[in-house]
Order: sequence, then C-alpha cells, then structure tokens
Amino acid sequence: MNASLQIEPSAHVSERYARRVNPAWVRLLELLQMNVRYETCRGVELFTDEGRQILDFLSGYCVHNVGHNHPDVVRALQGELERCGPAMIQTHVADLAGELAEKLCERAGGRLSKAFFASSGSEGVEAAIKFARAHTRRPGILSAEHAFHGLTCGALSLMSDKFWSEGFGPLLPETAAVPFGNLEALERELKGGLRSASGLPAGCGVALPPLRHAFCARRSADRDVPNRSFSRSAPLRSRA
Ligand SMILES: Cc1ncc(COP(=O)(O)O)c(C=O)c1O
Repeated sequence: MNASLQIEPSAHVSERYARRVNPAWVRLLELLQMNVRYETCRGVELFTDEGRQILDFLSGYCVHNVGHNHPDVVRALQGELERCGPAMIQTHVADLAGELAEKLCERAGGRLSKAFFASSGSEGVEAAIKFARAHTRRPGILSAEHAFHGLTCGALSLMSDKFWSEGFGPLLPETAAVPFGNLEALERELKGGLRSASGLPAGCGVALPPLRHAFCARRSADRDVPNRSFSRSAPLRSRA
C-alpha cells in the first residue's frame, strides 16, 4: 500500500487538517483505509457520505455512552442555547452546575459530597493530583503500570509506558508505577515513601481490578501509611 496521502473526493478536507493540525493522523487513517467522511451519527450507527453504515463499538472511550446525538441530549443543548442564559460570566453562580453536581453526588453514593467540573479527563487527573497532595500533604503519587491518565504533564507523569512521555520531561518527581492488581507491591510502595496512588491500567481496553484489590488498596492508602495516598484512572488512546 502506498504510504503517501491519497487524493480522494473529500481529500481537500483531510489535506487542510493534515496541513494545519496533524499530518501523521491523516496518514495513519489513510493507511488503515479508515479515513471516511461521516455525515450523520445516531446511537451506535455512523453514516458516511458514500452511503456506508458503520457500527461504533468504541463509543468515544465512553464519551458516547448514551449513543451519538441522543435526542434527549440534543434537546437539552438546544433548549439551553435557545433560552440565551448566562455563560462564562465571571460573577455568576452556575445553577445548572449545582443541579448536576447534586445529581452526581446522589448517584455516586458513599461519602462523595462535592463535584469538580473539568473539560477533559486530563484536567480531572490534574485536579485529582492536586487534591491528593493538598489533602494528604504527600508529594509523591503511585499509579498502576500501563495506565492511561491523559497527556498533560502531571497526568503523563503517572504513565509508565515511555511511548507517551518521551521528549516531554522532566515530569513530576516522586512518581512510581506498580503492577495492576498486585496488592502486595502496592502496599510495599505505599510504605516506602511520600506517595498517593492512582489507577486502572489501559493498553488494550479496560482491565478490571480484582474487587479485593480496589477495596484493600483504598484501605491501605488511608490507614497504613502516614506519607502516602490513593486515586484512580483507565483505556487506550492514540498519541495523535
Ligand atoms: C481513564 C482516563 N483518564 C484520563 C483520560 C484523559 O482524558 P482526555 O483525553 O479527555 O484529557 C482518558 C482518556 O482516554 C482516560 O481514559
């Protein structure tokens, strides 16, 4: 197969993206013959401009858990835009954020009493690192080997696969990775220094921890060690 960019009917769109955003990503999709133009996306069905129907089993890594363009979501967004309500006013208390936070806390159950809103997973991980450090006064963070946490500098520091971080260092100090599901290794690391812990691993989908691991890890981080703490994360992403 020819690795160079192929010119196709919609190629000007790809060409512009390649020129202005990310040429490697366009080249890769061309090589994989996956560079199609999606016209409409509904539920799990994606329709291309060539009349193909594709089923989406990836679901945007759980971004589209309710399916693409779910009518309830579309209606809510349209309603919000049409009511011309306040957005990004610095002196405003966002009532909808309060309502959503309340529903999230109710559904999460347990001791969760506050929600922090962010625009991306990486931003959420950055916040978790800061909250863990501020709350525990422990500077170091443990993560699970092969976990994916995001591509911002703090989140990158918690990813053991050097593929993601090569060339971007130095990253956060005092981070270490433990094999996922290995409670003994986790306890050993927690006892050995100034650490908090993070992590579900990613690589090829999502790995579930043995139930005992999640429970005991939480308990170890809270109880055994004066200088360490615990948080979490998961799946595979391209570096594009
Ligand atoms: C578990 C997990 N944490 C963090 C991230 C980073 O999210 P984002 O790409 O929105 O920054 C991802 C993204 O796939 C993720 O799966």
